Amino acid sequence: MEILERDSTGRITKFIMRRPDNWHGHFRRDTRMEAVVMHSAYYYARMTVMPNTGPIRTPAEALIYRQEIVDALIAQGFSREQAERFPRMTVYLHQGTTEEDIRLAKEHDMDFKFYPKNDKLGTTGSQAGVPTLFHVERAVAYMEQYGVRLLVHGETATHPDVLDLERRFVEEQMAPLADKYPNLHVVGEHLSTMEFVQFILDTSSNVTATVTPQHLWYSVNSLFEGGLRPHRYCLPLYKHREDQEAIIAAVMIGNKKFCAGDDTAPHPKDGPTGQAKLADCGCAGAFVAPVSLAMYIAAFEKAGALDQRFEDFMSVNGAVIRNVPLNEDTITFERRPWVVQNEYHFGDNDVVVPLCAGETMEWRVTNC
Ligand code: NCD
Ligand code: ZN
Repeated sequence: MEILERDSTGRITKFIMRRPDNWHGHFRRDTRMEAVVMHSAYYYARMTVMPNTGPIRTPAEALIYRQEIVDALIAQGFSREQAERFPRMTVYLHQGTTEEDIRLAKEHDMDFKFYPKNDKLGTTGSQAGVPTLFHVERAVAYMEQYGVRLLVHGETATHPDVLDLERRFVEEQMAPLADKYPNLHVVGEHLSTMEFVQFILDTSSNVTATVTPQHLWYSVNSLFEGGLRPHRYCLPLYKHREDQEAIIAAVMIGNKKFCAGDDTAPHPKDGPTGQAKLADCGCAGAFVAPVSLAMYIAAFEKAGALDQRFEDFMSVNGAVIRNVPLNEDTITFERRPWVVQNEYHFGDNDVVVPLCAGETMEWRVTNC
C-alpha cells in the first residue's frame, strides 16, 4: 500500500494498493445473479461463491453455476480473463457427499461449505443443512485426506438462544473436530463471537477465518437502532460489544489468519414471506457488495490500522492461505464522500436495498 495524498491535518486522502479479493459471498441465480454479480466483480478480483442457491451439491453443479457467472460478467463488459478469474466455487456439504465428490472438488480447486440445518433460525437454504459436523464426519475425514478446505457456518442448530449458537458450535463441534483432524483446512466464516476468534488464534495455521465489514461495524444493538433495522439483519447475528471488540482487535493487530469475506447476500426488498426482507417474516442476509470496501476502509481507519495491515487483510492473507497467486493489478481509493443509493435492480421486477442505504461513505474507488 502506498499513500498518495494527505490533507493539511495529515489524514490520508488517497492511496493505492494491490487489488483485493473477497472470500465469501452469495450471488443467487438467473436474472438475480446477473443483476448483482458486477457489484462485487467491480472491486474484487476473486470471490468465493457460496452454494446455498439451489443448493449446489456436487462439483458438477458448481461448474455449471460457475459458467453462468462467467457468462454474466462477460455479457456485462468484463474481459474473459477477469471473468474466468473471478468465481471460486464451493459445494454444499450434505449427508450424501461422497469421496468422489471430494476428489473432484480437489481437482477443480473447490471448497466445501458446512451449513447447520435450521428450519427456524437459519439462513437461506439452511433447511438442506446438516444437523452437526459429526453427521458428516466421514466426508470431513476425506477432506483432510485430500486437502480440501471446509468452510464453516459455525452455529449449532439446537440451543434456545440465538446469541449463543456460535459459541456453542465452537465448543461442542468445532474444537473437538479440529482436534481429531489436525491437518484439516478449516475456514471459520463471518466470525461473530470472541470464542470463535479465540479458537482461530489458538489453533494451527490451517485453521483460518473470514470477517465481514458488518461484523466489524455492528453489535447486536445496531439491529434496533432507532427501530427495527431489517436490512442490517444477517446471520450469524451481531453479538455483544465485547465480541465485536475481540473481532476488531484480532484483525487490526495484523494477524495473518484473517481475511476479508463480506457475505454479501441480496434478497428482494418486497415479496413473499421468508424470501423478502420487508415481509411478515423477513429473511436474513445483507446486500453489502456496493459498500463493503468502503466499510472495511472505515473500520481500519477508525482503528488506526489503515496501513499495510489493511492491504494484507484485503489482498494478501486470503490468497496466501489458499495458496493462490496474489493479484498483480492495483486499486486506488480517494476520500470523496458519497451517499449510498437507496435500492438497486434485482432480477426482473425486484429491487434490493443495500446495507447503509442513504448513509454517507467516506471512501470511493477511483480507477476501475
Ligand atoms: C445468507 C444468505 O442469505 O444467503 N444469509 C446471511 O444472513 N448471511 C446465508 C449465509 O451466509 O449463511
Ligand atoms: Zn454467507
